[in-house]
Amino acid sequence: MSTWWRDAVIYQVYPRSYADGNGDGIGDLAGVRAHLDHLVDLGVDAIWFSPWYPSPQADAGYDVADYRDIEPIFGTLAEAEALITEAHTAGIKIIIDIVPNHVSSAHTWFQAALASPDAPERELFWFRPGPERPTDWEGEFGGPTWTQTPDGAWYLHLFDKAQPDLNWNHPRVREEHLDILRFWLDRGVDGFRVDSAALLVKDPALPPVLPDQPHPFHDLDGVHEIYREWRQVIGSYEGDRTLIGEVWLPSPERFARYLRPDEMHSAFNLDFLCSPWDPARLRQVIEDTLRVHEPLGAVATWVISNHDVTRPVTRYGREETGFSFAAKREGTPTDLRLGTVRARAAALLSLALPGAAYVYQGEELGLEEVEDIPPALRQDPMWHRSGHRDPGRDGCRVPLPWSDTEPPFGFGTGTPWLPQPRGWKDRTVAVQRADPASMLSLYRSALALRRSVSGPLAWLPSEPDVLAFRRGSGFACVANLSASAVPFTGEVLLASGPLDDGLLPPDTTIWLAL
Ligand code: GLC
Ligand code: CA
Repeated sequence: MSTWWRDAVIYQVYPRSYADGNGDGIGDLAGVRAHLDHLVDLGVDAIWFSPWYPSPQADAGYDVADYRDIEPIFGTLAEAEALITEAHTAGIKIIIDIVPNHVSSAHTWFQAALASPDAPERELFWFRPGPERPTDWEGEFGGPTWTQTPDGAWYLHLFDKAQPDLNWNHPRVREEHLDILRFWLDRGVDGFRVDSAALLVKDPALPPVLPDQPHPFHDLDGVHEIYREWRQVIGSYEGDRTLIGEVWLPSPERFARYLRPDEMHSAFNLDFLCSPWDPARLRQVIEDTLRVHEPLGAVATWVISNHDVTRPVTRYGREETGFSFAAKREGTPTDLRLGTVRARAAALLSLALPGAAYVYQGEELGLEEVEDIPPALRQDPMWHRSGHRDPGRDGCRVPLPWSDTEPPFGFGTGTPWLPQPRGWKDRTVAVQRADPASMLSLYRSALALRRSVSGPLAWLPSEPDVLAFRRGSGFACVANLSASAVPFTGEVLLASGPLDDGLLPPDTTIWLAL
């Protein structure tokens, strides 16, 4: 069974920050079309677009006002259609983000619901009468999950108050989303990334969140019916379309339930994403991942960054190298040189594992988390809703540097919506293309070599702090997370850093032909 998404490299485009085509300082579809060559050159199989729909941008587009059009800041529906065609011509598939848990408060349904206490649209959301706040659940961005309307009723929003949660018990909500899927499938998209996929179904009794009690909205069993319906719609289209879940769950077993053969094709490996740069932890995550995916025939995914988490070169350059939303550690001591060495090793490790791999824009340039964004320019609702305790996610969303020696580094002609560090003059696509030792060159070589790697993973004997495995009979990957250089056997195909007198140095990964 070989379908493209089983071993694809999927590149995440964050439309606001990829490239700006019209000089307003905000990335757009014209910018993506003008720089599609970068992705062809890099060798990716697919692009995943973070939301591109009309949206007040209260959560950078994860607040969708209309699921069947394109945000005017980004362009037009006709441009999206042209982009899909151009990408397909270049051999690149298109995956789009679908946001089913909530809509924007500007969505026509919510506007109708607000207009009158008797509006039937209230049934499409979670409205409850006042005066008491219905629960004291804590929101995903911090703060309460209920906001009161002028008529005294409360509505539920697990995220920002501009993102009211839909009521998935209502048939209209279900039908609407099936129709939205068809709308985009008809326009040729190859798949969907399902936002906040485990949160859609709520317990209507609205119980409190208590330890050892069933959670009122995390991973309720009813959510699986939704994805079974979606899978049927997707399966009715030609051409291997795919469904990818954003499923944050502590248990690999519960996670795997989303990947049963009639549900999603894959889901982001967020355990791998959050894992510290620690050999025992990484080995455990890899083993758990393969253990729960294999019996289902589901495809594993490998992710080291996205638009929600601290950039890897920063994260791996700190004393605490894991990621958690609770502790972002902005401003803690960071050794970017060490972080970059490890990010290179992590890239070769993750790209050698069996399954699909994700690359978040700028990861291939080794960009660091930008931690000195002036408070007045920060846009993330996490920053605002946490009363500025949480720095939010803007630091990994800064516009890409393409060329030139000064900001905006070829991003566009206007002032970028978030300021770029001056040091990115050495990190532009143009500089890195010309340098065989650059992060970009490493990713490009890895993506090309990866095409000939196949077969299941088999661990090779190694010291405990070294991760060494074979894929098939001819390929091996060795990641040295120990404190000293180690010997290896085989012919070197690619290394994340220089070797040390024929030995593999610490924090280095090597690909070998056996
Ligand atoms: C997902 C997205 C994140 C967004 C949230 C609410 O976690 O990745 O960026 O803020 O959902 O839609
Ligand atoms: Ca623009």
